[in-house]
Amino acid sequence: MKNNHTLRRIALIGTGIVGAVIMGYGMLVVLYSHEMTTIPVHHLLHGGMAVGAGMLAMALAASLPPRNRERSGWSIPAALAPVAGLLLMWPSKYAYLMDHPWLHLLDHLGIALCSLLAVFAAQAYVRGLGWPMLVLLVGMDAAAAGGFGVSPGNREALCSQPTIAATENTVASPGQVTPLHMLGKQLSQNLGCTACHRIGGIKGVGPTWKNLAGYPQKLADGTTVVADYPFLKKAILYPEQVHLEGFPPNAMPNSYRAMLSGPQHADEAELKAIISYINTLSDRSSPASQPPAPAASGK
Ligand code: HEC
Repeated sequence: MKNNHTLRRIALIGTGIVGAVIMGYGMLVVLYSHEMTTIPVHHLLHGGMAVGAGMLAMALAASLPPRNRERSGWSIPAALAPVAGLLLMWPSKYAYLMDHPWLHLLDHLGIALCSLLAVFAAQAYVRGLGWPMLVLLVGMDAAAAGGFGVSPGNREALCSQPTIAATENTVASPGQVTPLHMLGKQLSQNLGCTACHRIGGIKGVGPTWKNLAGYPQKLADGTTVVADYPFLKKAILYPEQVHLEGFPPNAMPNSYRAMLSGPQHADEAELKAIISYINTLSDRSSPASQPPAPAASGK
């Protein structure tokens, strides 16, 4: 009997700890990867976080003294917390959150706490409602991942892999204020660059873009080159000709040459936009590492 009790406690504490770790992961991961996942994948992360929060909440509710259970007062947070969680995922905030990782982290903290409260309250109000609540929360995230609640136009821009052709419209459409580097940022996400290149200083499959422009680059042959505009251009269009120390040769695809240069991209507007963006990430950016002036005159 006593043994059973101890086992139950260990199981509860274990569940709580695992839940808390999953929740914490879901919050911190935005600092490292929120630039490189797509919106649907990101919503699945919210779902994962809800599962973690739910585990913690179930463990907490189970350890509640019996006299505090099944209080009708819990019905209010049980109803309001999921709504608050939904508001925290409101699509119109996506772009802003993408630009402010710390705010995004706080947003995730909010989502996690809402999930925690919702499941806890549901479970404490009527024993057994915690699980249906958890299913509801995860269902909400799954629906968001499927594009529910995102307007069709936004969904296309946010969820699909836009093509160069689509972004060319952005460049061309008159009167549209798209600062070059913002376009470059968008392109580098759409083209998948940020899957390999992180912008925060951490090495990924490829070198980080933080403090790349204007900084000396160590090549595999032992020489050093400053990352000026011609170097960056060569590294992107002819990666087979640039081999950095510490990276496997030919790990960067050379397929971008056809997408960013050639007859159809004679002005190389997208390439310049990307390099302009890379420059915003460096504290040694200079005219030498920036795209040549005429193209940058879009500002
Ligand atoms: C599959 C992973 C991958 C993708 C996708 C990728 N890169 Fe790279 N990139 C690399 C690797 C690896 C290197 C180092 C190459 C070497 O040493 O041979 C590199 C090198 C570079 C460099 C030189 C960096 C330095 O520190 O000198 C630039 C600039 C660059 N990539 C830009 C881009 C851009 C722009 C895109 C998207 C249009 C892109 N990369 C997509 C993996 C990738």
